Amino acid sequence: MNIDSLLQANAAILKWYSPYNFNRNISDAHLLTHTYAILQQHIALNEYVSIDVEGIEYIFIVKKLEWDTNYFGIPTYKLINVLSMSYEFINEATQLFNTNYLPKNAYCFMEVPAEDISTIQALGNASYKLIETRLTYYNNQLHTHNYPRYQVRQATKEDIPSLKKVAATMRNNFDRFHADKTFDMQIADNFLSTYIQNSVAGYANYVMVPNQKNTASNSFLTANYLQEDWDMIQCKISKMVLSAVSASTNKGWYIKLISEMTYHLRDTIGAECIYLNTQATNRAVFSTWEKLGYKLGNTTHVFSFLNK
Ligand SMILES: CC(C)(COP(=O)(O)OP(=O)(O)OC[C@H]1O[C@@H](n2cnc3c(N)ncnc32)[C@H](O)[C@@H]1OP(=O)(O)O)[C@@H](O)C(=O)NCCC(=O)NCCS
Repeated sequence: MNIDSLLQANAAILKWYSPYNFNRNISDAHLLTHTYAILQQHIALNEYVSIDVEGIEYIFIVKKLEWDTNYFGIPTYKLINVLSMSYEFINEATQLFNTNYLPKNAYCFMEVPAEDISTIQALGNASYKLIETRLTYYNNQLHTHNYPRYQVRQATKEDIPSLKKVAATMRNNFDRFHADKTFDMQIADNFLSTYIQNSVAGYANYVMVPNQKNTASNSFLTANYLQEDWDMIQCKISKMVLSAVSASTNKGWYIKLISEMTYHLRDTIGAECIYLNTQATNRAVFSTWEKLGYKLGNTTHVFSFLNK
């Protein structure tokens, strides 16, 4: 395997695997430098499998997720990319990947940009099912953000019990954990509770909650600053990640949190572009983003396979 030639040969598709590909102010060269660096890291860690079909090599970049494996009690694999000089036998290669590489009862998922139709069809042929369609929205006109201000603060560890409750009860039936029948609904609820707990404990750069008199702090929005990527992609970009708003005590707070986090990332961190994603079904969410000037940037599909 000559990884550099494989990466060059797949450049046109790999561009769409960059999480930042919606931003046309970032050059293709910078997008690809970032994507190549990630793939090379996986290869250096031996997180790939090579499958030969009719003399053509298919490199499946795949990582076993230890945390998810322990949490869900299912050996969990994330398929990151399939690289080859030719896609002629990608269907056969994907089937061989399932049977020869994945252990019995293992669970494998992959997020594929809508542009990578060869991989999407190969996954379908190899019995992967569609579990989520994801939209990325972005705002790179942050100087125009001028929404009224609201009182917010950073969450502390004292907020964790109430935020865990909001995360577990404000169920989103279409996120990949709730949509995938592989997971029990209760376990999916608990997963989001654990996720917000870990976010407050430092996994996220910032967790924002309401801080208004006579209003409970029963909502949250997390953000990752992503400053470690700024030089490589030559763009000061940050991401809003997870949110939930209590319908009983904080109804209507979502737009306030998104707006306040936009101010925080722009004015405190110096971000010039912000992005975030949700399911194509989450109309309340993307209509709110549109009200605040966020625009649709790209679409991906998430597939999963349980090796019964
Ligand atoms: C999505 C969520 C954060 C919204 O909380 P909220 O601030 O109380 O939202 P609201 O119910 O006030 O709805 C926000 C806006 O979307 C609109 N909306 C609601 N459902 C809608 C729909 N189906 N289609 C279009 N717009 C819709 C509302 O009318 C409101 O707009 P308005 O203020 O102009 O009337 C909350 O329901 C939640 O926590 N859901 C579960 C977790 C989740 O989905 N998180 C986001 C993941 S990205």
